[in-house]
Amino acid sequence: MTSRFEYDLALDSVQVTEAAAIAAGRWLGHGDNHRADHAAVEAMRATLDRLNLDATIVIGEGERDEAPMLYIGERIGTPGAAEVDIAVDPLEGTNLVARGQPGSTAVIAVAERGGLLHAPDTYLEKLIVGPPAAGKVDMNFPVRANLRIVADSLHRKIEDLTVVVLDRERHQKLVAEIRDAGARIKMIPDGDLGAAISVAVSGTGDHMVMGTGGAPEGVLAAAALRCLGGEILARFRPRNDAEAQRAVAMGIDLDRVYRTNDLASGEHVVFAASGVTSGDLLKGVQYFAGGARTHSLVMSAQAGTFRFIDTVHMFDRTLMPSVRL
Ligand code: FBP
Repeated sequence: MTSRFEYDLALDSVQVTEAAAIAAGRWLGHGDNHRADHAAVEAMRATLDRLNLDATIVIGEGERDEAPMLYIGERIGTPGAAEVDIAVDPLEGTNLVARGQPGSTAVIAVAERGGLLHAPDTYLEKLIVGPPAAGKVDMNFPVRANLRIVADSLHRKIEDLTVVVLDRERHQKLVAEIRDAGARIKMIPDGDLGAAISVAVSGTGDHMVMGTGGAPEGVLAAAALRCLGGEILARFRPRNDAEAQRAVAMGIDLDRVYRTNDLASGEHVVFAASGVTSGDLLKGVQYFAGGARTHSLVMSAQAGTFRFIDTVHMFDRTLMPSVRL
């Protein structure tokens, strides 16, 4: 891949997430997860198909028999064009959109073939930190020790840290340990991928993500962190025997701690996310007469570019464009 190709890929990728965000955002607060997700999937699929790429989905909407579009293994785009692997979460935080809550995004990661781990759709225990603590934390350390490392890396006290944790029963012990150590906790209803990106960007006020969430979101987080320079440490946590067997059959080592570079190993990794509902980092979609406005982040590991893109989309060309700051 040339840097020109990576540049094109970044701008292509953001069009894909913008289209998914605009489609999904229409379902804000409708209480209908399925339609919100379906709208994002259809829009993403249609946009991807127009790109000059020979793309294979490695993380998508599920297996072929359960997902009509963007299923794992699906080939999209133009045969004979540059071969890439793609990981997508057309709507990360489906519940958030259905309930009109903050923090949902449309997400894609692209790498050269073989550059993103083909992870099973199971759970992943995650420890995610920003660049200052990358390479210093360890999944085998007690919670308090990792909090101390992150606090030291930021020259602050543990009491000044905010740890993002998915609000789930399974995290009761973890939450008790974090509280005991004195750190602040932000419990989120959904969307640990958005939180992973947030901890790697200073100024968001989020410093760490801990706990168990989706494995696909973990691979996408790793792609983002390859660009931003933070770190994810992760262990696969299948929910049952069938998931464990499937993971092992896919070559996953259930005892291993996977690091950022294991989950997203590509030399050329591009990541894009567009806000569907407003969160710590990205604004949600705004609709107006004849158009919509999206807010996205697109970044490239090799080129070292981070673009926040604020786009006004005019759908009705008979209306005067309503572009404002
Ligand atoms: P969706 O993309 O399916 O809406 O997932 C939202 C999410 O909250 C992820 O951010 C998280 O990794 C996962 O679900 C947690 O799964 P569970 O809800 O089963 O605890």
